[in-house]
Order: sequence, then structure tokens, then C-alpha cells
Amino acid sequence: MSTIEYTKKNKIAIFSLNRPDVLNAQNAQLHHELNDAFLDFRDDSDLWVGIINGHGRAFSAGADINDFAPSTTESSAGFRRIRAEQIWKPFIAAIHGYCLGGGLQLAMECDIRIAADDARFGYPEVLIGYFPGSECTLRLPRYINRSNVMELMLTGKQISAEEAYRMGLINLVVPRDELMQAAMSWAESICNAGPLGVQATKEMIIRGYNMTWDDGMKLEAELIGRVRNSEDFKEGTRAFIEKRKPQFKAQ
Ligand code: COA
Repeated sequence: MSTIEYTKKNKIAIFSLNRPDVLNAQNAQLHHELNDAFLDFRDDSDLWVGIINGHGRAFSAGADINDFAPSTTESSAGFRRIRAEQIWKPFIAAIHGYCLGGGLQLAMECDIRIAADDARFGYPEVLIGYFPGSECTLRLPRYINRSNVMELMLTGKQISAEEAYRMGLINLVVPRDELMQAAMSWAESICNAGPLGVQATKEMIIRGYNMTWDDGMKLEAELIGRVRNSEDFKEGTRAFIEKRKPQFKAQ
């Protein structure tokens, strides 16, 4: 059985983690299948925004702890799948239930996080004597303040959606039954914008973060040049002048 249900609705790709019996714990098969789906999404110019969610009662309870058993031959530790933050199309995480460890790691790779009011967040790795790997310790301090990073990662405690919102981990909390509707509505609003401009903006924000100001200015000039030469830029400006809705084509 497939561990990822990958569906396409118009310009939106939906990646549903599909190991509900183990709260979508992430094993090697899931990492490989998510990687394949991400690459398909990246390379399909008709898809502009991705949404990641989970089937069953959780987004994901993290790495599959069975993979850590000494007897396990195929460990997911040997395979590094492509990250959502290495693809310039925007990703939205639609989170309900448990979002722990590698589950929270996957959500933090996304650009926007929408949570149901029943969501629970945390990095429980230290509670099993482990370490929050997959760049969690690099990524989280770039998003929220260090006191909150330490609180979450050193104690392994779980926090509610409201607390996660206060810490700046997530963008929005909605009632459980409105989660996918809210995620689709954000995705559709991003799809109203010019996709090449959106992708260049994400690329600039992510790559620019680790650059010197001078290198960032060079990258910005390159990206602006690319966007200004696009058909979509001509269409967007023409549509504004003609007072009509632009028809973008990702060209
Ligand atoms: N890896 C493997 N299996 C997991 C898992 C994980 N990370 N998280 C949950 N499961 C499995 C459970 O073993 C259980 O399987 P079973 O029905 O065969 O016994 C099933 O998913 C349901 O989990 P359960 O513990 O019964 O649900 P719960 O509601 O009582 O508790 C959690 C939910 C998330 C609090 C608890 O499952 C948990 O602590 N999971 C581990 C989280 C973790 O440490 N993640 C980081 C790993 S590095």
C-alpha cells in the first residue's frame, strides 16, 4: 500500500501522509514515496502550490521508531529526501492531531502552516534518548525565538495549537472541520498571483537568508531579470492597465 496519497486538483498538489495505523510515522518507504511525489510536483509546470496533510487522527507522530531498532536493515536514516524548502513552489502544511518530531520537521519545511484546534506540537526525540535530527536544530531557531526553541527541544513537551500560534510556529488555527477548506483557500489565493514571481520570491527568501547583503543583491537582480522577462509579467501589467483579471501561465 502506498504511504503517500498524491492528488492533483487544478493547480494544487495534495500530499497526504497515509500510514494512519501508526499515526503517519515516517519510515523509509514513506520518505522515498514523498521524495518521488515532491519531484513530480517540482517538475510539473501546471502545479503551482502544494499542501501536505495526514490521513487518520494525526498529521505525523515523527520518525518510525521501529526503524531505529538494531535489527532493521532498511533505515530511513541513510536516505535524505528532497525538502519542501528546496522547491521554489510554495507549500502549505495542513496540520491536525499529533505533529511531533519528524512530523513537525516536515511541517516546518513548509512555507505556511495552518493547524486545526486539536493539533499537538512537539519535539519528543530526547524523551526516547535521541536527538531532533533532519536539521530541526538548524531550522527552528531561524523561525521562532531561542527560548521557545530550547523549551520545546530540551523538554520534549507537547504544546497546543494555540500555544504554537503564540510561539510563531504556525500562521493560523481553525476548527478541525475547516482545516482543508482553509488550506485550499490559501492555496487558491496564492494561485491567483503570478507563479514565476511567487517562486522567485520564495527562492530569494530562502537562498538570501544565508547570503551576505552583496550576494543577496546579485541574486535579487538575477531573479528580477528573470521575472521581468516572463510572459506572465507582461500579462500582469497589461491586465492591470486593461482593468481585468490576469491569466497567468507560468511562462
Ligand atoms: N513510530 C512508530 N510507531 C508509532 C509512532 C512512531 N513515532 N508513533 C505512534 N506509533 C504507533 C504506536 O506504536 C501505535 O501502534 P500500535 O497500535 O501497533 O500499538 C499507534 O501508532 C498508535 O499510537 P498510540 O501510542 O497507541 O496512540 P496514543 O494516542 O496513545 O499516543 C503519541 C500518541 C503520539 C503520544 C504516542 O504514539 C507517541 O509518543 N509516539 C512517539 C512519538 C515520538 O517519539 N516521535 C519521535 C520519534 S524520533
